[in-house]
Amino acid sequence: MTDRSATLTVNGNNIELPIHSGNLGPDVVDVAKLTSQGCFTYDPGFVSTAACESKLTYIDGDQGILLHGGYPIDQLAEQSSHMEVCYLLLNGELPSAEQLAAFEAEINAEMAVDDQFANVYTAFPRDAHPMAILTSAFGVLAARYHSDIDNNDPVSRRKVAMQVIAKTPTLAAMGYRYSKGLDFIAPRADLNYAENFLNMTFGDGSPDAKVNPTLAKAMDRIFILHADHEQNASTSTVRLSGSTGTNPFAAIAAGVTALWGPSHGGANEAVLEMLNEIGDVSNIDTFIDRAKDRDDPFRLMGFGHRVYKNFDPRARVMKISADEVLKELGKEGEPLLAVAKRLERIAIEDSYFADRKLYPNVDFYSGLILQAIGIPTAMFTVIFALGRCPGWIAHWCEMMAGPLKIGRPRQLYTGPVQRDYVNIDKR
Ligand code: CMC
Repeated sequence: MTDRSATLTVNGNNIELPIHSGNLGPDVVDVAKLTSQGCFTYDPGFVSTAACESKLTYIDGDQGILLHGGYPIDQLAEQSSHMEVCYLLLNGELPSAEQLAAFEAEINAEMAVDDQFANVYTAFPRDAHPMAILTSAFGVLAARYHSDIDNNDPVSRRKVAMQVIAKTPTLAAMGYRYSKGLDFIAPRADLNYAENFLNMTFGDGSPDAKVNPTLAKAMDRIFILHADHEQNASTSTVRLSGSTGTNPFAAIAAGVTALWGPSHGGANEAVLEMLNEIGDVSNIDTFIDRAKDRDDPFRLMGFGHRVYKNFDPRARVMKISADEVLKELGKEGEPLLAVAKRLERIAIEDSYFADRKLYPNVDFYSGLILQAIGIPTAMFTVIFALGRCPGWIAHWCEMMAGPLKIGRPRQLYTGPVQRDYVNIDKR
């Protein structure tokens, strides 16, 4: 915070607005007192609005930089594990070896869900979208733990955070198995987080089933790369919902619904659908032309980002991971991969994309990995949600620890001015 200020002149009145500086990134002009001066700010899509103060994650979209707790995402993805990143987001520091072991053990012990959860799944048709099921599963967690939660108690908040991180892989895997008509598989104490998710999803249920280490590493990396992304649409939804003091699992359910959309987490599903629709490299030009046509709502899925006006730093690592997984599985010759690589090159070289700074984003490559691993396309966004749940709950914890103010935006009203009611027989 500083003593600098900006002067805004509205209808001839000078209004002094404080300017605050963070540790990195642009200064912010504090407009909170504008309302008492009779005006609001107007910023559809919140493109210029800092909605809160946060210590978790920093993004420089022009430089393509993403830091969690100050650590660059590429270093975390290459050298750490998802559990370390979860610990970092919840505690602000990387763990020691002992702290990490205790954290992992605690998460592992929380992974199981009550037997009753099986009933939740049977209420859905087998072909229900898994994001709809995941939304409901968080509703059930809200019901299950409602009376145990005290939002004002840091110990209770931490317990919720551990439960969200621990139970989401189990719920996601159950969604997959239900869709296939398979029995559920319980988490195992001898497997790590990513291994447990893969085993609960694809395992044969035997107590000593092995998990492919390359695929577990790739899965762990996908989780790291999705772990947090500051005030994106779903995280802002969790914060806004949580700001009312609601049950935190219910706030996470709200985040899941926001993530589902194709402009956000649903893009990974949309990328694969688009690649399948393109089908062959010979059809790429038609799709590029459609993407450039202002009269055509089609957009090249997996390209562009609200914040990154440079290569998405997560996409760089995801691309390396995609190559590793496809090699491990002997799928380097997949026709879809050829379409993806060609599309990537053309889009990067084309002036339409270059002028608008539209680069491949994280979702462009994650779908290729997930498909190679055997995750159905409809479940891709569930994987994003699974990766993002530490970020959502860390933001909720951070918000609840500070002075809590309900999120309540205002509007520019453009409807009818006041008029008198007209009886129906006179209309
Ligand atoms: N294909 C074609 N044109 C595009 C695309 C695209 N994917 N993205 C943006 N544009 C154009 C847009 O038409 C506009 O052109 P013009 O200036 O001529 O009107 C210009 O680029 C700026 O677009 P915008 O809509 O103002 O950008 P935005 O910041 O509001 O939208 C976005 C960001 C991610 C919603 C958008 O780029 C998009 O729809 N991309 C495809 C969906 C996608 O991949 N989403 C995943 C984002 S990464 C995962 C996550 O973090 O959620």
